[in-house]
Formats: sequence, structure tokens, C-alpha cells
Amino acid sequence: MPLFDVYPLLDITPEKGEDCFVYDTKGTKYLDFYGGHAVISIGHSHPHFRKRIKEQVDKLAFYSNSVLNPLQTQLAEKLGNLSGYEEYQLFLSNSGAEAVENALKVASFYTGKKKVISFSKSFHGRTSAALGVTDNSKYSAPINENDHTVFLELNETEALTKEINKGDVCAVIIEGIQGIGGIHIPDPEFMKQIELLCKKHGALFICDEIQSGYGRSGKFFAHQHAGVTPDIITMAKGMGNGFPIAGTLFHPKIEPWHGELGSTFGGNHLACAAGLAVLEVISDEQLIDNANIVGNSLMEKLAGLPMVTEVRGEGLMIGVECTNPIKEIRMKLLHEKHILTGVSSDPHTLRLLPPLTISKDQADKFVTDFQHTLTAISKNETLYLS
Ligand SMILES: Cc1ncc(COP(=O)(O)O)c(C=O)c1O
Repeated sequence: MPLFDVYPLLDITPEKGEDCFVYDTKGTKYLDFYGGHAVISIGHSHPHFRKRIKEQVDKLAFYSNSVLNPLQTQLAEKLGNLSGYEEYQLFLSNSGAEAVENALKVASFYTGKKKVISFSKSFHGRTSAALGVTDNSKYSAPINENDHTVFLELNETEALTKEINKGDVCAVIIEGIQGIGGIHIPDPEFMKQIELLCKKHGALFICDEIQSGYGRSGKFFAHQHAGVTPDIITMAKGMGNGFPIAGTLFHPKIEPWHGELGSTFGGNHLACAAGLAVLEVISDEQLIDNANIVGNSLMEKLAGLPMVTEVRGEGLMIGVECTNPIKEIRMKLLHEKHILTGVSSDPHTLRLLPPLTISKDQADKFVTDFQHTLTAISKNETLYLS
């Protein structure tokens, strides 16, 4: 049976991972500056992660959400402590799209409304409500079409005020830092306006931290750089370091009722063990500080390179905009320097999302190899033009 062929694939087959490196079936070692799509937070195959999962699978891998599961409570407590959201309530699911779907659904239950404000270049997932607030019509089938989302430009306060003043808005959803859109950071002032206007009009402020959360930005959540407190926060990728787990946090004013949300697999024992291991390592190894320190130094060095027009980001969520399309740069990095990097919807912006364990030396090695790659490309171009 063939696979349903929806993914354009890189021609490598990783079979082993160790911290910031993956090894393919030929034994080639790759420096992972892509983090398996922003998923690898504590490094590949971290010993504590392996131990926690192995111990749990030997005891109990799964039981349904119809029984008490102390691992969920432990996870919620640890997450509350580390993120500063002790008073919020956690609902566990399995993927980012589900976390967003649940956020929107609860916002709609809570307000009794359905109009959502989202922003251009946003990505929130591929289930129906999440697609409805995603600014890419390519992913929407006729069955996904909806007429209750208004897309506004990021950081345009006037347009936001005008729309929310109409009084029929259920929620405003925004990424802590736009990821797939090419690493765009909302202005802190704009985030404050969203918070203020949502409060004023009884709408809910949803921050999608699926990619930018879990320490990646140098704070637990990227919106914490702006000093705002959303009503609902979504998270996934870094939460399980590759084990499928996602979460949605709800402000204490949002009271749940039995049956409002549900999931067969969400918050199962094995997923919670993985999630707890991740939080324990983030805290024990001070990975959020590391993301800050290494990320800032990396961004500074990248900004000085030829062919680099702009470096955007926070911590280890970095977009490098280049004069040339990044396709060739990325392929050369992969095949000649054995470095994995990510794309974005902007053909000129390379996305860097290494594990939060990345060292300064590894970051410096990336800068050197990246510089060599850019120089080789520009030399070739000069040769071709002359
Ligand atoms: C900001 C954001 N929201 C939602 C999603 C959807 O997550 P998933 O692919 O786990 O459904 C993604 C995935 O890239 C994302 O970056």
C-alpha cells in the first residue's frame, strides 16, 4: 500500500538522535537547526526523557479519561509553576490543531458568539476551526469554508479597534511569534491593545504558543515578552519533545462543564510521563536561560553576514531573511555542511529552531558554515554574471 503522498521529502533517513544531532542510515551526522519542526525542546533522546517513558510503559501506558490520573495533575502543577499560570486550568490533547480547536470552541461557548479576528500570515492548524483562522486558503477544502473570521494586518491597531468595536467578536487569536509566516513578532503595544480591547468588549484573547511556547523564545511563553496575560493559551510542539501531547490553558473565569471538551488519547499516562520529563529537564538544565543567551548571540552574529537582510526572532525561534531565495542555501547546508534548517511561507526566510540545549559552540559552528555557504553562492553568482 502506498503512503498518501502529501509531504515533499528531504532525501535523508534519520534513524538515531542524540541531543542536537541526528544520524541517518548511512551514519552521516547532522546538526539539527530545525528541531524536527520546532518539536525538539530538550534534545533528541534525552536520558531522563527515555527513562521516564520506559518506566511508565512498564507500569501503564494508557487508561481512558474516565478514571483518576494523578500524572495529569502533576503535569498541570509543574506547568503552572514553570509558566507562571498556576491559576489557569489545563486541558490535554494530542496535537496543535486540536489545542486551537478546543480554544476556539470554548471561546465560542463562553461568549455565545462566533466571529474571530485573526491576522495575515497566521497559521493555526489544519482541523476545521483552526483552518478557519489560518491565513492560507490553499489548505481549505470547500467543507472547511467559514464566513466568521476577519483577517487583519498584524500590528494595525486602528483596524483592530474598528473591528472589535462592532461588539460581535468572540475571540482574537494571535501567535506569540508567527512561525510558518516567516517569524514575525507582534509589537508589545499591539498585544496590549488586544488584551485591553478584548476585556472592554467581552471577547477572549487567545494566544497560540504551539510553536513559540515552552521556552523557545527565551521566556516560557513568547507573549510574556509583551507583558500580557491572554485568556486562553495553546501549546504543543516542544511540550512532548516528539511525543504527541498538546494543551490548552483556560483563565479561571472560564468555568468548564462535563462534556464540553473530550479526547480519547489526550492526557494519557505515557504522554503525561513524556510531558513531565520535558518540564523537569527544562527546569533542571535551565534551558529557557540557554535559549535566551545562545539565541541572542546567534542573532547578533547572523545579522552581520553578507546576503542577510534581516534577522527576526526571540531566543531560539529565528528567521533569517536573505537576498536570495533560501531553497539553494538550505540544500547546500543540508548536503555539504550536514545541517538541517526550516523553511517558512516566505521563500527568502530561513527558519532556525534548534533544540533548547544548543551550545554556544554549536551555534558558532552554524554561523561559520552558514557564512561559507552564503559566500560560495555569491561567488558562483559573480562567476556566472562576469
Ligand atoms: C502556531 C501553530 N499553531 C498550530 C499548529 C498546528 O499544530 P499541529 O501540526 O500539531 O496540529 C502549528 C504547527 O506548525 C503552529 O505552528
